[in-house]
Amino acid sequence: MSDTVAVLGGTGALGRALALRLARSGHPVVLGSRDAARARASAAELRETLAAAGSDARVEGASNADAAAAGEVVLLATPWDESGASIAELAPALAGRLVVSCINPLGFDAQGPHGLAVAEGSAAEQVAALLPASTVTAAFHHLSAPSVADLDNDLSGEDVLVCGDDAAARARVVQLAADVTGRPGVEVGALRQARVLEPLTAVIIAVNKRYKTRAGVLMTHVDPNRPASVKKAAAPEVVA
Ligand SMILES: NC(=O)c1ccc[n+]([C@@H]2O[C@H](COP(=O)([O-])OP(=O)(O)OC[C@H]3O[C@@H](n4cnc5c(N)ncnc54)[C@H](OP(=O)(O)O)[C@@H]3O)[C@@H](O)[C@H]2O)c1
Repeated sequence: MSDTVAVLGGTGALGRALALRLARSGHPVVLGSRDAARARASAAELRETLAAAGSDARVEGASNADAAAAGEVVLLATPWDESGASIAELAPALAGRLVVSCINPLGFDAQGPHGLAVAEGSAAEQVAALLPASTVTAAFHHLSAPSVADLDNDLSGEDVLVCGDDAAARARVVQLAADVTGRPGVEVGALRQARVLEPLTAVIIAVNKRYKTRAGVLMTHVDPNRPASVKKAAAPEVVA
């Protein structure tokens, strides 16, 4: 049985797009919103889209807290919140969950898109600090919501870069990426790698504007189907 996936910010562009693909792959999906009625309306729209594509996938809508409680895996598809208040208030509901931050703290000015400074290093590390009872990873930063939302679009040429401090959690997110794009995600290391992944999105947006496209990320010479090697634990120090 596939994990139930909750998508907080599930009424937004990225949340709806990921929800569509994950539901089509067989995950029961619960969209979360600050307004449960809005989440239910979005869920009904996604069910219609999926039905038109021949899928009887399960998508429901709920408040963010109820969605978090229902999900085994919880995607954070909300805007960056410098105060962290909107995440902190969900900490009890998110305890014990595998949380995937998709959040990109970005600014836009006359020079174009740019990464914003985050006190904790990255939005993902901020989330981890706010959710000590959850396992926090980060992924899906570089997918373009309209590309994901178009179910006819082949995403298997794009890599989803996955970071996190827990190896088992990273492996689950790598598989979740495959359920979105058809291609397993690529593990890029500890959660602090989000300091690189999040602002890299500003580069992609700048490329999109310059070349009028929806660019994606592809790591060359990596076979994502090959299991990542696991670092051996250091041998214990021997004291004579
Ligand atoms: N769009 C993309 O292509 C893309 C790609 C990769 C990553 N991302 C990242 O994914 C996140 C969502 O992006 P998006 O484009 O989907 O944004 P969006 O369309 O604005 O949707 C975000 C959703 O989050 C909720 N929300 C808004 N303000 C909030 C707040 N202060 N606290 C809690 N929830 C709030 C809203 O839902 P309710 O009002 O229903 O609660 C909204 O529908 C961002 O961090 C973005 O950087 C986006």
